[in-house]
Amino acid sequence: MEITGTEHYVTTNRQLRLQSRPKGLIAPGDLQLSESALPEIGEGQALAKVKYLSIDPTMRVWMATDSYLPAVGIGEVMRGGGLAEIVESKHAHFKKGDKVFGMTGMQEYAVIEAQSRISYQKIPSIPFVSDTAFLGVLGITGLTAYFGMTEIGKPQKGETLVVSAAAGATGSVAGQIGKIHGCRVVGIAGTDEKCQWLTSDLGFDAAINYKHPDWKEKLAAATPNGVDINYENVGGEIMEAVLGRMNLHGRVIICGFISGYTKEVPEQISLGLLIVKRLKVQGFLILDYASRFTDAAMELGKWKMMGKLKDRQTIVEGLEKGPDAINMLFTGANTGKLIVKV
Ligand SMILES: NC(=O)c1ccc[n+]([C@@H]2O[C@H](COP(=O)([O-])OP(=O)(O)OC[C@H]3O[C@@H](n4cnc5c(N)ncnc54)[C@H](OP(=O)(O)O)[C@@H]3O)[C@@H](O)[C@H]2O)c1
Repeated sequence: MEITGTEHYVTTNRQLRLQSRPKGLIAPGDLQLSESALPEIGEGQALAKVKYLSIDPTMRVWMATDSYLPAVGIGEVMRGGGLAEIVESKHAHFKKGDKVFGMTGMQEYAVIEAQSRISYQKIPSIPFVSDTAFLGVLGITGLTAYFGMTEIGKPQKGETLVVSAAAGATGSVAGQIGKIHGCRVVGIAGTDEKCQWLTSDLGFDAAINYKHPDWKEKLAAATPNGVDINYENVGGEIMEAVLGRMNLHGRVIICGFISGYTKEVPEQISLGLLIVKRLKVQGFLILDYASRFTDAAMELGKWKMMGKLKDRQTIVEGLEKGPDAINMLFTGANTGKLIVKV
C-alpha cells in the first residue's frame, strides 16, 4: 500500500530487527535496520505510524533471554512500546488521526490487529501536556513509580525514602510521590548535574552521586534517622548499601536491577540483613496493574497540573539511533524518560 506524505509516497517500512543476542552493551549489528513493504491492512486491522518509541531497560533483557515475556526471536522486529498515529483504519475501535500507545515494535509503521483494542490505548489530547508525557510521567514509567510506591511502599509522613536511579524516568517520579506523601526523600544518581536537578527542581531533600568515592558516608549522613522505604531500581552494591541503612520493619520495593541487565552474572548481594532488620521485600511488574492504569494516570495528571510532579525527557532523533539509545540507559546518558523520535 502507499501512504501519501507531504513530499512523497511512502511504500516501505523501516524496522530494527534483532540479529544477535548482545553481550554487555549492544554492539553494532546486534540490531539491524531493514526495510520491508508497507503492510496492507485487512478488515478489522488499522495501520499506525510510529512517532515516538519508549526506550526501556527491559528491552535489553528481551534481547537476551526469556523472562516475564519470551525473548525476541532472532530476525524479529525488536519489541518496544511506542506512540503512534492511525493513518488508515478498518478497525472498529480506531479511526484515522487517533493517537495511540501500544507495543508497536521498533519500526515506522505497525499493524494493529482486530483483537488489539486492549493492548493499544488511545491517548487523550490535553492542553499543555505533550504527547510524549504518555511515554513517561503519565505512561508506563510514571505508573510503575505510582503503583510501586502506593501499593508496596505505602509512604507515611515523616518516613525516609531512598530511591536509586533517581534521576531516571521511574525514579524521578517515585521520589516526587514520596515528597507528596510527606517523606524525607534521598535520591542516588550518577552525576552531579542529575543530583542538582533532583534537589533544586524536584524537591528531593538530598541526592548522592554514587560515583564519588565517599558516597556511602554521604548516604549515611543524608539518612540520619535510617531508611524506612527503599525504591530499588539498580540492585548490586547500591542496594546493599541502602539495605545497610534500613530501619527495622522497613519496606523494599523491588522495581528493577538495572546494574545486572548487561552482565552475564549479576552482582550478588548478602540478604542476611533482611532477617536482621525484619524487612518486607516485594517485587512487582507493572503489567499486573493494567486494569487500574486509567485511574492512576488521572491521579498522576492531577499532580502534574498542580505542579507537584515535574518531568524531563531525553529525546534521541531517528529510528537508526535506537540501539545507541538503549545503551544510553546503561551508561546513564539519559535524564528522565528516554525516547526515540522515529
Ligand atoms: N517492575 C516493573 O514493572 C518496571 C517497569 C519499568 C521500569 N522498571 C525498572 O525500573 C528501573 C528504571 O527504569 P527506567 O525506564 O525508569 O530507566 P531510567 O531510570 O530512566 O534509566 C536508567 C538509569 O539507571 C541508571 N543506571 C544504569 N546502570 C546503572 C548501574 N550499573 N548502577 C547504577 N545506576 C545505573 C542510569 O542513571 P545514573 O546516571 O544514575 O547511573 C540510567 O540513567 C529499571 O531497573 C527498570 O528495569 C521496572
